[in-house]
Amino acid sequence: MSASRSILLIIGGGIAAYKCLELIRRLKDRGIASRCILTKAGEAFVTPLSVSSLAGERCFTDLFSLTDEADIGHIALSRSTDLLVVAPATADLIAKMANGLANDLASTALLATDKRVLIAPAMNPRMWQHPATRRNMAQLEKDGVLVVGPNSGAMAERGESGVGRMAEPAEILAAIERALAGEAPAPQRAIGFLGRLPGGGGGAPGVLAGQHVLVTSGPTHEPIDPVRYIANRSSGKQGHAIAAAAAAAGARVTLVSGPVALPDPEGVETVHVESAREMLAAVEAALPAQIAIFAAAVADWRVAAEATEKMKKDGSDLPPLALIENPDILATIARRAAGRPELVVGFAAETENVVTYAQAKLARKGCDLIVANDVGGTGVMGGDANTVHLVTQDGVESWPTLAKGEVATRLVAHLARLAAGRRPA
Ligand SMILES: Cc1cc2nc3c(=O)[nH]c(=O)nc-3n(C[C@H](O)[C@H](O)[C@H](O)COP(=O)(O)O)c2cc1C
Repeated sequence: MSASRSILLIIGGGIAAYKCLELIRRLKDRGIASRCILTKAGEAFVTPLSVSSLAGERCFTDLFSLTDEADIGHIALSRSTDLLVVAPATADLIAKMANGLANDLASTALLATDKRVLIAPAMNPRMWQHPATRRNMAQLEKDGVLVVGPNSGAMAERGESGVGRMAEPAEILAAIERALAGEAPAPQRAIGFLGRLPGGGGGAPGVLAGQHVLVTSGPTHEPIDPVRYIANRSSGKQGHAIAAAAAAAGARVTLVSGPVALPDPEGVETVHVESAREMLAAVEAALPAQIAIFAAAVADWRVAAEATEKMKKDGSDLPPLALIENPDILATIARRAAGRPELVVGFAAETENVVTYAQAKLARKGCDLIVANDVGGTGVMGGDANTVHLVTQDGVESWPTLAKGEVATRLVAHLARLAAGRRPA
């Protein structure tokens, strides 16, 4: 391979395999050569011909191909590269990697390599949440495997949504570049066991079974007149992913959502509101709850006197826009004398001094935990990844940059442990 940086791309048998064609093209643009292995199942989704045409060299498919062995050999194939990338990483490939299986070219290369491995999981949300996949992912993290995604959103299967969509080619490319630059692998942190999706038969009950979890998400719109409003850039992706993860953990979930362009998460009761005052009323109506997670970006201020008719540009002075404070939903619920949830969690979106401001907010609001995230110029608002710090009175726990779906999964597991630890034995 002529380029100075190269990867061995293993394409598994999932619908997202088609995105790898785009990934190969983008890698080439960045001067990164890709040599490809396509699994048998992968061949059902993309052809070796299209993969090799884009990669500019033959695509490997068969462990027992004498030509391949004579050409390069499966051991050399797995080592004559800078990084192994598995995309889509199917549940099957993840299971093989976690257990050291080597019964085809892809899994043999993954076991034989002495290079780092980055995976981009992609599968149905139920497969992703299954205890077996949770165990396998925890094992891969312990083994130092790098992970990008999965994201939350609509699935190829009609009507299904949740965490399991493969990261987009641009996100995988960024993760590859970080890995090639030698960035340290994500900390070895076990992913909490979450149980099964609601409605899933068999298996253990989820860790939040029998609990009511209340989540707020998205922005609020504060009306100026019947056609105009004050808003912010919150997309609701993080809050919606948390609601979906709590439902996957067996909780009854009420999601109070501001105006967003996302589908309601499956298995979640979603209440749609516009303004901060409507959000507070919906939150109070949804109580009692054991855990309340306030991920919405509630507008701090609203217009003091909302015009009942559309304001007109009549050439005279600019209309005054006097602002007044909105109710503080987090503090109102955290300071309730009666019916306070066992765990009240706030979010702090900051552009500077993220942790310091979050510590001050924790004390000011009277909540149990603040999830602080840096939204300064990083594309977090509206983006698919988040870098968060969990701030409590006991200290700060910082997580690596993760897909919002993964932040949600880990946060829910973390809160379940925290809530269980606070209950009398
Ligand atoms: C239409 C279709 C789509 C599939 N999509 C996925 C997927 O996104 N993720 C996954 O883990 N398995 C998916 N599967 C199942 C895998 O193809 C199957 O587990 C296969 O054995 C994986 O082989 P591999 O890991 O060697 O590529 C899909 C199967 C079909 C028929």
